[in-house]
Amino acid sequence: MKILHNVRVLQISAGQLHTIDKAAITWQGQQLMYVGTRADMPRPDVGAEWIDGCNALATPALIDCHTHVVFGGNRSEEFAARLSGMSYSDIAKAGGGIRTTVRHTRAATEAQLLQSVMQRAQAMRRGGVGTLEIKSGYGLDLATETKMLRVATQLSAQTGMRVRRTYLGLHAFVAEEWPSRTAMLEAVCNSWLPQLHAQGLVDAVDAFQENIAFNADEVRQFFAAAKALRIPVKLHAEQLSNTQGAALAAAFGALSADHLEYLDDSGIAAMQAAGTVAVLLPSAFYCLRESQLPPIAKLRAAGVPMAIATDCNPGTAPNTSLRLAMHQACTLFGLSIPEALAGVTDIAARALGLVDTGQLRAGFCADIALWQVDHAAEIVYWLGDLPAQQLYVAGRKCEV
Ligand code: NIG
Ligand code: FE
Repeated sequence: MKILHNVRVLQISAGQLHTIDKAAITWQGQQLMYVGTRADMPRPDVGAEWIDGCNALATPALIDCHTHVVFGGNRSEEFAARLSGMSYSDIAKAGGGIRTTVRHTRAATEAQLLQSVMQRAQAMRRGGVGTLEIKSGYGLDLATETKMLRVATQLSAQTGMRVRRTYLGLHAFVAEEWPSRTAMLEAVCNSWLPQLHAQGLVDAVDAFQENIAFNADEVRQFFAAAKALRIPVKLHAEQLSNTQGAALAAAFGALSADHLEYLDDSGIAAMQAAGTVAVLLPSAFYCLRESQLPPIAKLRAAGVPMAIATDCNPGTAPNTSLRLAMHQACTLFGLSIPEALAGVTDIAARALGLVDTGQLRAGFCADIALWQVDHAAEIVYWLGDLPAQQLYVAGRKCEV
């Protein structure tokens, strides 16, 4: 048994923050046993390990529920092109964008990919992130998609972080490589997905539904294949235009629909009815210099849970700081501090289908971040480095 004492514990419920002062947290193996005041703590086991929290603020370890953090190369040249007026869609239509990263990712060895993602993941971990979702989607062939998902799996062992792997089967269509779009769909749905699933590499699937990517019929076909294998689905929806992606995702009981700048009222209603989480990605909004805001007030009014993630990727969000994404969600999208904190803990867990992480309560996983701050708002407020003092994932201490 482990006993973290001399801490203040942050609890987030019903949109309110609550701090327990002079608190203690105990856990056995991976599971939290007690979270409350030190005074009320049940008598500990003899031989329990005591850990001094130095009066830090304990929060659930943060959860980054949407990333593309495994990739080869980078896209700084396209960033420069965008600054001189080219749009993200123009670059994609000219064969760049996602396809640039596909070329680099195919060329990289598994060891090279692991080495580059380790650096980004270490920055995330230092920022208090204990759980990380990682999408494939820069392979677009079976060998490279497999390589990416294997690297994501290895990353967990190397860093101690919990990693959820998402097969992003429909990210871009490379016309030169296929006789038709139907042929690609056939391979992805009936061959690659079952093979990746059989190797235990897939926790969820995702697709990019957009005018420059895949249409609703194609996404429906892919989701039907995933559902037949009982794999949960997620969707990049209404990022650059409205293609009714959120409603389609909701119809498949999606864990989340992500981006959502162009989400309309019917999409909100569908997500609400299905319990689909809205994952907000303000770093992509910021980098693309978007002006269309996701309908935050309407999502809030409808009671659709809102998560926040970095979307860390080389094209639209070269960002490893989940705290920066939280700050952007507040300043650019108008979220409150409690909404931002819930959006990277409890609600982010829901967006990944994790039922026992993201809260500091008995019975949940012992995933804890300690912060040297006076008030929880500082976690969102400070720009730049604010390293977590200590980080525990599934009861085990991680380096920060
Ligand atoms: O979430 N929208 C599609 N996928 C990523 C960007 C991928 C890329 O440009 O490399 C996103 O923004
Ligand atoms: Fe994304």
